[in-house]
Amino acid sequence: MSVIIRPVEAKDKSNWIKLWCDPSESYLKFYKSVDKVTPEITESTWQRFFDEKEPVYCAVAEVDGEVIGFTHYLTHRDTWMIKDTLYLNDLYVSPQNRLSGVGRKLIEYVYNETDKLGAGKCYWCTQFENHRAQLLYTKVGVSMGMLLYCRP
Ligand code: ACO
Repeated sequence: MSVIIRPVEAKDKSNWIKLWCDPSESYLKFYKSVDKVTPEITESTWQRFFDEKEPVYCAVAEVDGEVIGFTHYLTHRDTWMIKDTLYLNDLYVSPQNRLSGVGRKLIEYVYNETDKLGAGKCYWCTQFENHRAQLLYTKVGVSMGMLLYCRP
């Protein structure tokens, strides 16, 4: 399978929306969050990818002209460094295209972007029960051994 990883383009919008929030199969469906992320949020996130003032980015995976996966990442300040840090927010490959190295390629692309954007670190998190993702993550990264909390 020949896959191209590239920055998202305006023409990708309908494909991206499908992979992002389709009620039957998508990234937000995976997180049982299709109803939590409103169309307004989806539109705002989409717009931010193309706003030079926003440190929010999207890259897509394309196979034979079809977008079959994506990653979203953003940079932010870090009190432990002068450089920014890069947070890999989201990663998704459509079910029929998994286990072909696309997820790995998306992460490798983000690693390159980390350097290009001048960030000093690249990190991400996943759920304890997401063993499939961890099979990939333990090959391309190291566990930081942190627990993630949020305000209830
Ligand atoms: N069984 C065995 N090994 C696996 C599995 C599995 N189910 N999944 C991945 N691996 C291993 C592979 O052996 C492979 O190793 P190799 O590169 O040495 O051959 C490695 O992990 C890389 O796998 P890829 O094929 O690159 O990963 P894939 O394209 O299948 O994408 C992903 C993985 C993104 C986790 C995909 O399964 C997916 O979209 N899942 C649903 C959404 C999700 O969980 N996203 C991540 C949430 S965390 C976050 O967003 C930061």
